[in-house]
Amino acid sequence: MDAPRKSKPCLSGVGLTKVFGLGRRTTVAVDHVDFEFREGEVISIVGESGSGKTTLAKMLLGLINPTEGEVYFQGQKRDISSHRKRQEYWKNIQAIFQDPFSAYNIFNKIDTVLLDCIHMRGGRGLPRAKKIELMTEACGFVNLKFEEMTNKYPFELSGGQMQRLMIARIFLLKPKILLADEPTSMIDACSRATILDYLMKLRDEVGMTLIFITHDIGLAYYVSDTVYIMEHGRFVESGTADRVILHPQEPYTKRLISDVPKIYEEWDLSTV
Ligand SMILES: Nc1ncnc2c1ncn2[C@@H]1O[C@H](COP(=O)(O)OP(=O)(O)O)[C@@H](O)[C@H]1O
Ligand SMILES: [Mg+2]
Repeated sequence: MDAPRKSKPCLSGVGLTKVFGLGRRTTVAVDHVDFEFREGEVISIVGESGSGKTTLAKMLLGLINPTEGEVYFQGQKRDISSHRKRQEYWKNIQAIFQDPFSAYNIFNKIDTVLLDCIHMRGGRGLPRAKKIELMTEACGFVNLKFEEMTNKYPFELSGGQMQRLMIARIFLLKPKILLADEPTSMIDACSRATILDYLMKLRDEVGMTLIFITHDIGLAYYVSDTVYIMEHGRFVESGTADRVILHPQEPYTKRLISDVPKIYEEWDLSTV
C-alpha cells in the first residue's frame, strides 16, 4: 500500500501520558508518547497485552483525560472542554472496539443505532424514505439485509454480524479518523478476514485515516503504511511497515516478529 507521505497531519500527540492510581500504587499506562498521524494513512499500533494501547486509544477519542501532554487535531490543539465541542469532535473520530457487545446500548434496536448515525450527520430532517434508503445502503455495504435488521436488538446478532453493523455505522458517520482497537480478536477466524476486508474497503470508500490497534504484528504488516511498536507505555520503534517489520532495529520488535513465523502467509486474504 502506498503511504500518502506528504499529506497533512491529522492527529498528533506530544508527550501524551496517562497515569492510573494514586500514591505508591500507580501505573504509568502511557508514557510520554509522540506521534503524527497523517490524512489517509493506515497506522498500526502494535504491542503486547498491557502495553497501553487501549489507554492511548481512549485518550485519542477523548474518553479519558491525559495526565500530561496534548492531542492535536488537524494541526490545532484539541478542545473538547464542552459537551458541544466533544460532539463536534466525535463527528471526526470514531472507534470500533474489541468487544462488539460492549459497543451498543442494549436498549436500542438496530434501526435506532443506525438512525442515530444519520442524525449525528445532520440528517434529522430527511424524509423517512431517504433515511431508510441510507440505512439499506449501509447494511448492504457489509452484506447485511436491512429488512432483517429492523426491530432486532444488536445482541440478537452473532459477533461477526455485530462487527459488520459497527462498520455500517461508520459507513453512515463517515468520520475522518477511525480507530479500530483489536476489532477482530473476539470473532472467529473466518469472520476476521471478512471484517478486515470491509474495513479496508470502507477506508478506500470514505478516505479516512485508519488507526489499527493490535497485538498481531503480521496483521499490522498486512494492513498498514506506518507501524508504531509499543512496549510498557512507550513507542520503542516506528516507521514504514516495511522498515519496522522487515528491518527491525529494536530487540523488542525483533522478539515480536520472531513470535510470528509466517508474517507473509498468515494474512494472505487472497486464499480465503
Ligand atoms: N482504568 C484503569 N485503572 C487502572 N489501571 C488501568 C486502567 N486501565 C488500564 N490500566 C492499566 O494500564 C496498563 C495498560 O492497559 P491497556 O491500555 O488496557 O493495555 P492494552 O490495551 O495494550 O492491553 C495496564 O497495566 C492496565 O492494567
Ligand atoms: Mg487493549
